[in-house]
This record gives sequence, C-alpha cells and structure tokens, in this order.
Amino acid sequence: MSIDRHSYSNPGQVRIKHLDLDLTVHFEGRILDGTATLTLVRGENGVPLVLDTRDLMIDQVEAGEKPDGPYKPVEFTLGARDPILGAPLTIQADDDANFVRIRYATSPEATALQWLTPEQTAGKRHPYLFTQSQAIHARSWIPLQDSPGVRMTYRARIRTPKDLIALMSARADFRLADPKQAPTGDYTFRMPQAIPSYLIALAVGDVEFRYLSSRSGVWAEPSVVDKAAAEFVDTERMIQAAEKIYGPYEWLRYDILVLPPSFPFGGMENPLLTFATPTVIAGDKSLVSLIAHELAHSWSGNLVTNETWSDFWLNEGFTTYVERRIQEVVYGEARARMEAVLGRQELEREMAKLPERDQILHIDLTGRDPDDGATLVPYEKGALFLTALEQAFGRERFDAWLLAYFRNFRFESITTAVFQAFLRDNLLRKDSAAAAKVPVEEWLTKPGIPAGAPRITSDAFVPVDEVAAIWKTRDAPETKARTREWCTQQWQHFLRAFPAAVGPARMAQLDRVFGFSKSGNSEILFEWLMMTVRNSYKPAYPELERFLTTVGRRKFLKPLYEELAKTPEGKARAEAIYAEARPGYHPIAAAAIDSILGKNTLQ
Ligand code: BES
Ligand code: ZN
Repeated sequence: MSIDRHSYSNPGQVRIKHLDLDLTVHFEGRILDGTATLTLVRGENGVPLVLDTRDLMIDQVEAGEKPDGPYKPVEFTLGARDPILGAPLTIQADDDANFVRIRYATSPEATALQWLTPEQTAGKRHPYLFTQSQAIHARSWIPLQDSPGVRMTYRARIRTPKDLIALMSARADFRLADPKQAPTGDYTFRMPQAIPSYLIALAVGDVEFRYLSSRSGVWAEPSVVDKAAAEFVDTERMIQAAEKIYGPYEWLRYDILVLPPSFPFGGMENPLLTFATPTVIAGDKSLVSLIAHELAHSWSGNLVTNETWSDFWLNEGFTTYVERRIQEVVYGEARARMEAVLGRQELEREMAKLPERDQILHIDLTGRDPDDGATLVPYEKGALFLTALEQAFGRERFDAWLLAYFRNFRFESITTAVFQAFLRDNLLRKDSAAAAKVPVEEWLTKPGIPAGAPRITSDAFVPVDEVAAIWKTRDAPETKARTREWCTQQWQHFLRAFPAAVGPARMAQLDRVFGFSKSGNSEILFEWLMMTVRNSYKPAYPELERFLTTVGRRKFLKPLYEELAKTPEGKARAEAIYAEARPGYHPIAAAAIDSILGKNTLQ
C-alpha cells in the first residue's frame, strides 16, 4: 500500500470495510444530519481511528462490538483544519469495538454539496441537492477514510421532503419507473460491492425515470427526461461494446441522472448512476461520447481504481482510451478519429501552458489540491500512451492484455507501479521488439509527449481545413454549401482553426452565414463564444452573458473567464457577470473562477 497524501486516515492500521448512513436532508438550513456507522477491520491494536472531515459538526461518537449495539460514547478530537485536507477526527475506541457510530451534521458550505433553489431547476417548483465527492469532497458530507485506496460497501437510509426522490450510487430499494410509486420521502439503498469513498453519491429532486433497456435508464426532471432518453438511446449498445473490450458489466444496472445546468462537470461516474450535465443534450447524439466515457469508468476507475490521486491517469487515461473504442463501435471509426484529434489539439494547447511537473502522468501532488492534477494530461496523454502500446503490439494482443488487467485487479485500488509491473510481465516481456517501440518510463515520468507518439489523423477534417483556410483570408459565404453535412466535431475543428484576431467584420459574417450565436450545441457555442471574447465581438455579448449565467460546467466557464480576464474591459465584464452568476455556480466551479479573477476565497 502506498501513502495517500490527501488523507489523514491510517488504513494500514485500522480500515473501514462498510458504511451505514442514516441522513435527513434539510433544504431550509442546507444541512444533512444523522449518523454514519462504520464497520472496521483492525490490522493493529492500540491505535486510534483517524477519519477525514471537512466542515462537519460532530455531535457524538459511540463505539460497540456488535452492529446493533449496545453503543457507548467514546472520546474524540477534531484536529486543526487544513484548507486543502480539512480536519482529522481522531477516535479513541477499544480494540474490540469494530463498530463506530458518528452523529453529525454538514455545513451549508460543504464543498461536496450543491443546494439548488427551485429557480435553479428546470421545473422551478422544487429544490434540488446533489453531491460531488471526487476527488476529496466526500469528507465534507461523511466522516470517513477519504482515500481511493480504501474500499467499502455501503447502505443508506435517506429522508427527504415527501414529494422528492432520492437517488444514490447504489441499488435503490424501490421500483424504477413504477407509475404507482409515489415519492415517499424515505428511501433505502444498498451497495454490496466495495467502492472508494469518492464514488459515494446522492441526489435529491423532482425526477422521473425512463427505461433505455432492461438494465439501463435515465433520470431527469420531468421536462427534460424524454429529451434525455432520446439522446442516450444508444446506451445499451455502448454497454455491449464496452463488455467486449473489458469483460462483463458487473454493477447490475447502468442508469444516468441528468442534473440541472449548474452541475460543475461534464459527467461523474458514480457507480450504477452516472451524473451528467444537461449540456450534452444536443438533440442529435453528437456529444454522447461523455456517456461512453462515464460508462467506461465502470471498469477503469470503479472496478480498478487509482490508489492515490497521483495515479489519477490510471482512471482517466484508460477511460479516455476505451471511450474512443466504444465510440468507434457505436458511431464508426471516422467519429472516433475526429474526437481523438480534437482531444490531442486540446492536450497540446493546455500542455503548452502547464509547468513541466504537471505534464507528467504519474504526478507529484505533494501539498496540493488533487483537483490541480485534473488537467487533460491524465486523460489525453494517458490515452495516447495506451494507443502507443496498442499500435506497437497490435490490437489483438493489446486487447487480451487489457482484459487480463481488468480481470486481475477488479475491486482493487492500484498504483502506477503495480500497473507497470503488470504491463512488464504480461505484455512487454512477451515481445521485446514491440516493447522497444514504447518508452514506458518516459511516458510515465517525463514531461511532454515522447517523440514517436501516435499521430491520429482524420480525413473528415480535410474539407474543414480547406473551408477554414478560405475564411482566414476573406469572407466566403459561398462555402456554406460545402458545410451542409458537417457534424459537430467538424464545426469544433473549424472554429478552432481561426487565429486569435479575426476582426469584427469577419466575425459578423461568420455569424450571419453560419448562425453560431444561435447554436443549440454547447460545444459549438462554447468555441464560438471563445472567439467572440478574443475579438471583443459586441453583438455576442448577450449570448455570452446568458451562457455564463445559466451553465455551471467548469470546463466551459474556466476558459471563458480566463479569456475575458486578459483585457481590462473584459475583466470588468467578467466581474459584472460573475457577481450575478456566482450564487448559481457549484462551490468547485466558483473556486476556480475566484482564482482567475483574483478573489482570495480559499475556504
Ligand atoms: N471523474 C471525472 C470527473 C472528475 C475528475 C471529477 C476529477 C472530480 C475530479 C469524469 O469522469 C470526467 O472525466 N468528466 C469529464 C468529461 C469527460 C467526457 C472528459 C468532465 O466532467 O469534463
Ligand atoms: Zn473520467
């Protein structure tokens, strides 16, 4: 076991193996309160149990020898609060007290929780709550060993206002889509498979369910659920494509919860229940690679988990690689290639701005927030590394190795070193000529992209480059006919082809001919809005403002605010928009924008 610098806990001495939650959701006070009962396994006697917490109010700690009690109060101390790690909760329980019950309440500022007012939902009638535990936010709503190297099963009882539904990353003890199933306000869940704390998730709101296949479905607010079901209609095909690569889907069901637009991420792979942004609902399935991605985490991440946040690339690199393999099966090679080329472009752009230490797959996060490591490096450089192995060994041999890797490490948390040993013993050793083509050590421990890395190209981008080349020199409305059949990825590529300065006249022509400001596709609109900011293109100001005040997805917000902050005029606009938008942003997104605009609000 390696040391997790982002947890105060001592799992090498005493370890949680099961969690029982009993929580009540209070929308008025923005608080969860109740108990967390932990089942422990001791490796050592005479040591206290150390848990991670962040802004929790601990009322009482009790310990017992049997799950049903009796429990008796034990001493505990809450240590000093670190801005990144929170505060350690040290519990003095006897060596034979393997059950510890903590009575506590969360703070309204808990970083894992976003409390939405009815106005922030689609239906405007009911409040909404959702959690986001990755990377180290679980500790702000549950006192536990908040380390991805510690896996536990869980059960939960969640009490909510009567007319709302609670969902968790677990098996729900109520019937899906049963028309007679009225909300009860009292829900129970079971997760019998051991998962790390960052995958514990809860959402509470006015949501409805639609089946996509017998083992998959979608939850969303009533006005969104049918659109979501149409968008994600290929989910079962994706699951089957993934099973061919990875082995059987082990989590019983695969459901998707579409959140309100302030959800700070594209998606989050909560087991059995992916959380997804509504900004991927484009009406034409063009952005569903996000579902392929979160689904792929059912294996890479949820079954085989990064042991520390320095090994994050094991989660995201494998997932990005398999995401493209799923896309290839379901939507064809051309689409998968376009997505890979776009990913490579983004990686190169971001990497050019990153210090060398952040360009390394096995990243050193000493003293830093693990969210700092969530750049495109673990995703795209990680996927590129696996593509390099695939190309050197051939798909057949690489796929056999992948399957063996997932079979071997299922329900384990592993480090980069463990991965590397398994790679060496089961792939590299078998063909030294192929192995010589992939500088594994360089991929894992050096900045930049190794020379000789795969270069994926896309034929579909050739005509796009041609049309963009014309527009770069002059207005070319006659090219519109050539773009009629273009897909979203081609439009993304087109917009990225422009230099920083386009000029107001050309911007106006582009918008007039192609209608970018009115695009209903969030990725296309985002690329266009980036251009409008770079060019201070005034006619798009209202659209930019609307986007920034309605969408909370950090991937879109960060670059837009960064671009705005580059000029004094832009910065002033950014601050005005942010003053209005911030209350609607998730704490994680707000923290990112605070630092861009120089607001020092490190909690
Ligand atoms: N697990 C991540 C989201 C995440 C990473 C949350 C790190 C907190 C810390 C999820 O699988 C993810 O990668 N989401 C991406 C979308 C994906 C298609 C690249 C996102 O949210 O942008
Ligand atoms: Zn991911």
